[in-house]
Amino acid sequence: MRATATRSMIDEQATALTRARYQRLSAVYDLMEGMAEVRYRPWREKLWALAKGPRVLEVGVGTGKNMPYWPKDAQMTGIDLTPGMLEIAHRRAKQLGLAADPSASFAPAPRSEAKGAGLILRLGDAQALEFPDASFDTAVATFVFCSVPDPVLGLRELARIVRPGGQVLLLEHMRSANPLLGALMDFVNPLVVRLMGANINRRTVENVQAAGLQIESVEDLGMGGIFKLIVARSTR
Ligand SMILES: C[S@@+](CC[C@H](N)C(=O)[O-])C[C@H]1O[C@@H](n2cnc3c(N)ncnc32)[C@H](O)[C@@H]1O
Repeated sequence: MRATATRSMIDEQATALTRARYQRLSAVYDLMEGMAEVRYRPWREKLWALAKGPRVLEVGVGTGKNMPYWPKDAQMTGIDLTPGMLEIAHRRAKQLGLAADPSASFAPAPRSEAKGAGLILRLGDAQALEFPDASFDTAVATFVFCSVPDPVLGLRELARIVRPGGQVLLLEHMRSANPLLGALMDFVNPLVVRLMGANINRRTVENVQAAGLQIESVEDLGMGGIFKLIVARSTR
């Protein structure tokens, strides 16, 4: 496991601040995102249709908004940094009839033994995942790498925990390629981070490349390429 090695590289203060921001937002997060969710729904559906099991990790599972789209026969693991968000995810899982097993071992079963559906929901940090190398067939994150303090460190962790050739699927908003809009996003970013916990000027495609993942496709979903669906593979 590399978690202990990467843990020393984490900016603990920035990570605690991110957690505190989402903890504060957790009670109103679903309400706050309600309007945007109408737009996000088909994008979530599209992303999850690509996810191949049997062992699938969702990083930054939040309040569990992706749960309705999860592959039915996969062994799902969801992690999040923020207790308040995860608590709501637990509730949503119960409502959807997905039983999270509190006693299950955190590490997923080897691929050959990963049979049937299952669910593990735990606290965790994308920057130092507590899984052995190649534990998953697919890793997914939606609207997460805008708030992970060190996105390249987190993306490197995804490259590590998916098997060689395994998928990393991302749905993210990022800095506009339009120079004027990009500059405006840079200007207002500090305020947005403070209020919402999310950076709006991340260069996520470049970050995916910097993490050593091989990009298979990048699809512009809307708003002049601010929202993108990224399909990448681990080459490890
Ligand atoms: C904008 S919310 C998105 C939640 C969910 N993925 C969705 O699509 O609605 C960002 C989530 O990422 C989580 N997060 C931020 N940094 C993280 C980290 N380092 N590790 C794991 N989760 C993190 C936050 O706690 C929050 O739940």
